[in-house]
Amino acid sequence: MLDDPARFVYLPPADVLALLDAPHGASVVDFGTGTGAYAFAIAKLRPDLRVVALDEQPQMIALLQKRLQTERGLTITPSGTGDLATLHRTAARVLAINVLHELGDTALRSLGALLAPAGKAVIIDWNAAVDRDVGPPRDHVYTVDEASDRLQASGFTVIAEHLFTYHYALVAQKAAT
Ligand SMILES: C[S@@+](CC[C@H](N)C(=O)[O-])C[C@H]1O[C@@H](n2cnc3c(N)ncnc32)[C@H](O)[C@@H]1O
Repeated sequence: MLDDPARFVYLPPADVLALLDAPHGASVVDFGTGTGAYAFAIAKLRPDLRVVALDEQPQMIALLQKRLQTERGLTITPSGTGDLATLHRTAARVLAINVLHELGDTALRSLGALLAPAGKAVIIDWNAAVDRDVGPPRDHVYTVDEASDRLQASGFTVIAEHLFTYHYALVAQKAAT
């Protein structure tokens, strides 16, 4: 399902990239990358970026490594949660697609800790307010307001929001402490 091409119709990688607004040569962590569907698409559209494809499941990392052997020349580094400390404060952008509703508070704080000063997180997830035939049940995910409240409670300031067909997107920065 993660590699279903229909996803790129209702959540186009080019639109995700526009929201990311990553500076030239920036480091972008795709947090909870899964099979790397968006990490690979982004690395192809923006070869200047250094994409870190991070997932807690070793099976996903193995899949990414295998895919990188056939799709050579992409600047993608597969990483596990064991790499979180090394990646601390290194990311100009963190992307998380369909991940927020799976994250506990500790994991969400780990995501924020990856941001470099002035870095931005782009959090995209299924919108509980939208009736749809795809994705998890509506009571498993957040509305845009619930997601925004969750981020603010975890030390982020939400600076922009955007609605896709089935998803919301929130752009957030670490709140000044
Ligand atoms: C629904 S999948 C989305 C995958 C990918 N972002 C996409 O849209 O194709 C959620 C992924 O997040 C990963 N994940 C969940 N919690 C995580 C955590 N705390 N740290 C890293 N990855 C996590 C899961 O292992 C899974 O691969």
